[in-house]
Amino acid sequence: MSKRDLAIDLGTANTLVFQRGKGIVFDEPTVVAMNSRNGDVLAVGREAWELIGRSPASVVAARPIMRGVITDFELTQQMIRLILNMVGVGRFPKPRVLVCVPSAITEVERRAVEDAVTSAGARSVALVEEPLAAAIGAGLPIQEPLGNLVVDVGGGTTEIGVIAMGGVVTGKAIRIGGFDMDAAIQRLIKKRHGVAIGETTAEKIKIQMGSAYPAAGARPAQVRGREMTTGMPKVVTITPGEIREALGEAVRGIVETTREALAEAPPELAHDVLETGVFLTGGGAMLKGLDMRLAQECEVPVHVTEQPLTTVVEGAGRLLEYLPDNGSAFFAGSSKS
Ligand SMILES: Nc1ncnc2c1ncn2[C@@H]1O[C@H](COP(=O)(O)OP(=O)(O)OP(=O)(O)O)[C@@H](O)[C@H]1O
Ligand SMILES: [Mg+2]
Repeated sequence: MSKRDLAIDLGTANTLVFQRGKGIVFDEPTVVAMNSRNGDVLAVGREAWELIGRSPASVVAARPIMRGVITDFELTQQMIRLILNMVGVGRFPKPRVLVCVPSAITEVERRAVEDAVTSAGARSVALVEEPLAAAIGAGLPIQEPLGNLVVDVGGGTTEIGVIAMGGVVTGKAIRIGGFDMDAAIQRLIKKRHGVAIGETTAEKIKIQMGSAYPAAGARPAQVRGREMTTGMPKVVTITPGEIREALGEAVRGIVETTREALAEAPPELAHDVLETGVFLTGGGAMLKGLDMRLAQECEVPVHVTEQPLTTVVEGAGRLLEYLPDNGSAFFAGSSKS
């Protein structure tokens, strides 16, 4: 058993790496700085943003993962290779890697993950389904026959899994995540106030004043953008109600899909969930009032995991202790896809 074993959560928004015996050794945005002339990846994560800021126009930002799956194989492979170097396991002996993947991943997408990680320098690759890793990271007793429901709201997807007896019994995934919330805020401000704002500004607004549930004492805020008609900078005042309205569709999607997952779960397991509750994780779990909305509309208790952004990789990290020697077909991913 090697200290070089890694667990990787390759998310749409953030990539995290857990090293055996060490804990989380990498936690950065899933973005690369790429030379658009030859496709070379020059930097990853925060370093990529810095590089893009002070480079010629040929250096551009790219996101190799969308909606939880690899959309650019070459970039992903180069990104992982850089990350392995950054965490100090880029040389021999090669590390064994456990990668967290969406439950609904297709066979082709799975193979892309395995190939990207192997060609980036891993000795072997095993996969684990994200809801299962989340349940382990949340400290749930996954081996018991008792059903547990995990709702993981990420940047590009929301994944819902009913976990029992060490596996994902049923699940649902929708293409709604934090990025969609940011885009909805941009759209509303454009439509209502005639002002364009950037993605990063929209994300800040969401984190600072976004909510899924009316909150007492929430105050309006001033937002800087660019007036559409004149192109000039303009400051507009935005109310919490407007932002809640913008987030409404995404929030409804998450709540409705959770209800469906509960309705479709085997009755005994669904019954367990009425007692054990829903475990809400992923960065989107921190949206204010999302827990309240879920609790109210699904009529179950809702618990937000302690560190929603790291729950999945922490769970996968714990599984490294059980990583079998001949990597590939372990834990994950059963055949449903
Ligand atoms: N306090 C907050 N309130 C609302 N959203 C937040 C908060 N903090 C982070 N987020 C959002 O969480 C998202 C990132 O979550 P996370 O890192 O779990 O996604 P990911 O795992 O990379 O994506 P995916 O699982 O969809 O592939 C971003 O959209 C970010 O804006
Ligand atoms: Mg995720």
